[in-house]
Amino acid sequence: MYQATSVTELQQYVQHWKDHDQSIAFIPTMGNLHAGHMSLIEKGQSLCDRSICSIFVNPMQFGPNEDWDHYPRSLDRDLELLKSIGCDLVYLPTASELYPDGLDRISQVQVTDLTDHYEGAHRPGHFTGVATVVLKLFNIVKPDVSVFGKKDFQQYRVISKMVDDFNIDVQIIGQETTREASGLATSSRNQYLDQAQTEKAALIYRTLQQTAYQIDAGERDFAKLQQTAVSVLDEAGFKTDYFTICNAETLLPATPEDRDLVILVTAALGQTRLLDNIEVSLW
Ligand code: PAF
Repeated sequence: MYQATSVTELQQYVQHWKDHDQSIAFIPTMGNLHAGHMSLIEKGQSLCDRSICSIFVNPMQFGPNEDWDHYPRSLDRDLELLKSIGCDLVYLPTASELYPDGLDRISQVQVTDLTDHYEGAHRPGHFTGVATVVLKLFNIVKPDVSVFGKKDFQQYRVISKMVDDFNIDVQIIGQETTREASGLATSSRNQYLDQAQTEKAALIYRTLQQTAYQIDAGERDFAKLQQTAVSVLDEAGFKTDYFTICNAETLLPATPEDRDLVILVTAALGQTRLLDNIEVSLW
């Protein structure tokens, strides 16, 4: 596996592959890799000749009360994992190269509408940080395809909209969520759960499935479904931030006419906020 830390170094590999008509899949990450990330890379590998994974804990997407310093970093293990699945190149950019004049001086990418609610409301500025770094990385790597996990469904939609709005020449692929046997979505945050919390956390997906089942069976009183789901979770000891049935494209609250829905949930167990979602197609 090749390793690049500078833009020049990275672009030499990319140019060489492009000169040989090889297509490139790009998977941006913040490291601390797990099975979910591996499935993104494998998806990219199934679509393109070459795979590039970046690892960069992007300071711009952390709020003032979020701990960038303590974000889990496990570079040696990450590199081993990437090697083991045959990733072609890992890009490890430095903050000084991506933000040479500091975070306050860089122009910002604000994706409209989709960023107003849910994680955008809970973490002001977060999606601006994500969109800005991803746009920079796209311009540096110039991939044909880039794969994002649908576990962070709002992020996946924000990136897709940015690519549409700015005519960026990359195909965005949404990869299905990897789950534990219990149904719990694989996430870096799961490591903060103790045994009892890990068992309880599976209730999130069961509640999503139960709600999706009722919609599929014809229930259209979305407010009632949402209230019931929040009660189920809160009575089990979660603190539910939101459990919302949305239009999968706009992420606005769903109407009975919508056919492509997504149910977004964020619920905390102790200090750990867990995100999950389920798509419901009514075609
Ligand atoms: O999902 C993530 O890990 C990050 O938000 C991303 C897309 C790598 C941007 O920093």
